[in-house]
Amino acid sequence: MRLGVNIDHIATLREARKGNEPDPVQAAVLAELGGADGITVHLRSDRRHIKERDVELLKSTIKVPLNVEMSATEEMKSIMLTILPYQVTLVPEKKDEVTTEGGLDVIINQNVLPDYIRELEVSGIRVSVFIDPDKEQIRTAHKIGVKIIEINTTKFSECKERTCEREELEHLYDVVKFSKKIGMEVLAGHGLNYRNIQIFRQLKDVEEVNIGHSIISRAAFVGLERAVREMKDLINFLR
Ligand code: PXP
Repeated sequence: MRLGVNIDHIATLREARKGNEPDPVQAAVLAELGGADGITVHLRSDRRHIKERDVELLKSTIKVPLNVEMSATEEMKSIMLTILPYQVTLVPEKKDEVTTEGGLDVIINQNVLPDYIRELEVSGIRVSVFIDPDKEQIRTAHKIGVKIIEINTTKFSECKERTCEREELEHLYDVVKFSKKIGMEVLAGHGLNYRNIQIFRQLKDVEEVNIGHSIISRAAFVGLERAVREMKDLINFLR
């Protein structure tokens, strides 16, 4: 199972001061050093964190594949056809949401998606669709030519008890098996963390997980003590 690291929160922190730090490119390089198999960013229509420039710089800097989450708009398509990332993931986007809420409804969008996806694929970009773990959605995605899906793991991640987790895992297992059987590449993500990944990793047919919030949250804690010590040393002329 590959690990794609979502670094949006680094840009969110930068935008808190509208300055230059922390820099998502630096974060991506460190994530690569830590073993990330891919870097993911979400270029939102409102540009609240990641900007086009970040995507351009990431594309030319990182060695691992770059995956850009985006809504299926004409604006996003034309940006991606210029930058040409390794992969884009189509997600639904709501103006006031704090994070992606649910998968893209492939059934509702089945008439517009095929041409949109084909245009990106013809330019060599892999296209994944973020989708709820629902066989009807997945069947339709397959019917309209989607080859890669990222299964939304929110419901599993929000479980408070083991029974709920076990039930959701079983459901995901069934959905993943179905998706693989019809020939799809299966990725997954949303809400996965250091605890639930130990259960989730049993789904061996999932080829990649995308994780952001819990990794960046943990990074703040594993790095905080050192950051304070460095400042303390500077104040005391020890550096
Ligand atoms: N996959 C998709 C499609 C997402 O939108 C996000 C959040 O940006 C993630 C995965 C990562 O979710 P989390 O930050 O909860 O790990």
